[in-house]
Amino acid sequence: IGQMLPTPDLLTTSVGVPVAVGGSSLTIGTRGPIVLHDELFIEEMAHFTRERIPERVVHARGAGAFGYFEVTNDITQYCKSKMFEKVGKRTPITARFSTTTGETGTPDTIRDTRGFALKFYTEQGNWDLVCNNTPIFFIRDPMLFPSLTHAQKRNPQTNRKDPNAFWDFITLRPESLHEVSMLFSERGIPDGYRHMDAFGNHAFKMVNSAGRAVYCKFHIKSNQGIKSLSPEKATALAGSDPDYSARDLYDAVQKGDYPSWTMYIQIMSFRDAELLPFNPFDITKVWYKADFPLIPVGILTLNKNPLNYFAEVEQVAFAPRNLIPGIEPSPDKMLYGRMFAYPDAQRYRLGVNYAEIPVNLSHNAKVANYLRDGFMAMGDNQGNKPNYFPNSFGGPSPDAQYREVVSKVTGDVDRYDDKDDYMIQVRKFYMDVLKEDERQNLCKNIASSLGHAHAFIQKRAVIGLSYSYLFDLNTF
Ligand code: HEM
Repeated sequence: IGQMLPTPDLLTTSVGVPVAVGGSSLTIGTRGPIVLHDELFIEEMAHFTRERIPERVVHARGAGAFGYFEVTNDITQYCKSKMFEKVGKRTPITARFSTTTGETGTPDTIRDTRGFALKFYTEQGNWDLVCNNTPIFFIRDPMLFPSLTHAQKRNPQTNRKDPNAFWDFITLRPESLHEVSMLFSERGIPDGYRHMDAFGNHAFKMVNSAGRAVYCKFHIKSNQGIKSLSPEKATALAGSDPDYSARDLYDAVQKGDYPSWTMYIQIMSFRDAELLPFNPFDITKVWYKADFPLIPVGILTLNKNPLNYFAEVEQVAFAPRNLIPGIEPSPDKMLYGRMFAYPDAQRYRLGVNYAEIPVNLSHNAKVANYLRDGFMAMGDNQGNKPNYFPNSFGGPSPDAQYREVVSKVTGDVDRYDDKDDYMIQVRKFYMDVLKEDERQNLCKNIASSLGHAHAFIQKRAVIGLSYSYLFDLNTF
């Protein structure tokens, strides 16, 4: 493991008391029972039996690395965030890549959406951009996320992946067909994490220093190029090299072949958003590049591996609600669902003070607030500073310059099932984006999964997919 240390440290207990003998429990005679006051043994075993924390409910299997983001193009006309203030400016980053539905020990090469989460340690606090390798998502109402996840994970009785549940859910929620078509295309099994793109999916708001706001989407494109695995090779690797993607990333960084990605934004004015024929905040749809061209922003480079996976990757906590001045949420309800879900999951998974774990700390902006106590308050718990607001004793105070853009919201409070068109973009993907051999492969890949579902679900899927891919409903 790692490098041999020149002079080993003295072995101690968790509170630094030196240990005389390692590897032996305290027993009555050589063959006798262990005595209750063997603190060393009890600490060793009690710590061990608590080594596992709850894994992420999704994206449990992953790999991470560290590096930096460097601005290459001036976007200050759109965004006032300090990290974009000048060309050449660098911001440290943490990246974590993952599969979505597999548990921590599952193979890297399954057909699954890949996660690509980024944490930027900016001078204005941490900004998290929690992306996937597809530009769109299965659903557009966060209420459906637990069901989407259950349908993709294990059957409650057999504890196996269940094609019936997956295709049943997908065909009952046809807005998912766009994402499903991407998932079953060749991009559904990326060749490791270095050869895939990342997409923020949601629209965000970007605000410049004059307070002018536009909507924006983030695209992160691999400078290694896109490469995918054939289903046959992926299946073979799942047996022979299940940690394929994690190994590929680690080895590349270790030998100095640093992977990099270029960040782009798409910009949409508020006016264009009103005129668009579809809902620009519907995460099952893309903004076409021909209408909203990609604007380059900067380069992300990963040049450092973790020293300790658990401390630096398992415990990293990304959250779409971690935004900085200059980047705000758009009215996408999926984004609001996520803004609640991630910190809530992390309070459960890592504890209420998860932001104090070193990899999650705001390294470049001082943290000062009125949050106190709770399990595992690891820092100085903000010392003797006032713990209530307002106060007359110099506690942290807000600054109006960081006010968010004021927006007006009207409408009837109700539970809406958005029936907005879900076929036009799927059809375009099938007819215009894919080439003939890719269309054939898509159908083959779908068949290899759908073939395991009940006949009535297969029928529903084939009808739904054929309508989506081939018929223009506007002509009916
Ligand atoms: C309403 C929809 C969604 C909900 C409720 C949701 C919820 C979650 C939760 C609870 C986690 C685990 C967080 C943790 O324990 O640290 C997670 C992880 C993740 N999600 Fe989502 N998610 C949603 C949609 C999305 C979308 C649209 C994307 C991509 C654009 C995405 C990308 C990710 C990634 C990359 C991770 C892993 C982050 C890491 O590496 O730690 N999710 N999600």
